[in-house]
Amino acid sequence: MSTKKIGILTGGGDCPGLNAAIRAVVRKGIKFYNYEMFGIKNGWAGLINGDISPLTMDSISGILHKGGTILGTSRTNPYKKENGIENIKKTIKKFGLDVIVAIGGEDTIGAAAKLFVEGINVVGIPKTIDNDLFGTEYTFGFDTAVSIITEAIDRLHTTAESHHRIMVLEVMGRHAGWLATYGGIAGGADLILIPEEPFDLEKVCQHLKNRHNKGKHFSVVVVSEGAKEINIGKLSTTAKQKDDFGHERLGGIGDILSKEIEKNTGFETRVTVLGHTQRGGSPTAFDRILATRFGLAAIDLVHENKFGFMVGLQNNKIVPVPLKEVLGKLKTVPPEFYDLAKVFFEYD
Ligand code: F6P
Repeated sequence: MSTKKIGILTGGGDCPGLNAAIRAVVRKGIKFYNYEMFGIKNGWAGLINGDISPLTMDSISGILHKGGTILGTSRTNPYKKENGIENIKKTIKKFGLDVIVAIGGEDTIGAAAKLFVEGINVVGIPKTIDNDLFGTEYTFGFDTAVSIITEAIDRLHTTAESHHRIMVLEVMGRHAGWLATYGGIAGGADLILIPEEPFDLEKVCQHLKNRHNKGKHFSVVVVSEGAKEINIGKLSTTAKQKDDFGHERLGGIGDILSKEIEKNTGFETRVTVLGHTQRGGSPTAFDRILATRFGLAAIDLVHENKFGFMVGLQNNKIVPVPLKEVLGKLKTVPPEFYDLAKVFFEYD
């Protein structure tokens, strides 16, 4: 006899590992707890519109290694939709859902925290390639994206060296520079620029000139999309168009930076924007395992009726983290960690 009806959704930007998490929640939910599982389509949008269908063992078969999300996703903010919360409550009632498992980043988990206060039983699972979610040491998706960045830097290094050029690599990371810092350390970048540590364009150019003077006639510069110049501020060319959660769509810093570097140093410079290649494709083994551990722990919380929590990784253990502690906070790169990266590029 089934004891609970569980709805699962994935919200915000997709990332590798989402399917592994869905698989774990559904598999343990059905096999161990005999729950009825439902897939909610396209994040909060599906819960508002009632776009929901049953998830069976068949639905989750063969998805572990696949990128994206079988449920679809969107950046819908239920608090910005007319009658959003009212409609969510109606859908929950209509389908008889006892619990919502929300897989997402700061926005999706933030909305889940507010919905819990409204009386909805929610459990959160953290994901984002940006790794900026508070309450967990890692989010899945991050490790895969770092591998993609590392490979890109390796490839840029050889062509940079052959042509004696500066290569600027723009990576994602809206508020936090984890991707640039980890990828940059792993790939041996000659400069890493992140949102947490505004940079001085003049010093950047001087650093590249110094390398040339020392006989290093090429450099790889990794820059986060959200990095800022100390005098100019944010360097972004894209329209100031905002999503439902009020985030501007960033992009363009790599192009602006490469032009400035070329102008100020006289060195030939090229830009590569990795964009959504960082979010697509198969998850690494690390991300598959983390997503699986998160999924299993989340359905255990459901079983214990422990709602209003997100699962998080702390000291390599999966622990419940109260959603109210995560709300409105970000995990940014601490200065001591950025200092580790700096050892290799002697910037300043
Ligand atoms: O939130 C994750 C993220 O990858 C950010 O780093 C980036 O700014 C954003 O998604 C881009 O998302 P989209 O193009 O899907 O709106």
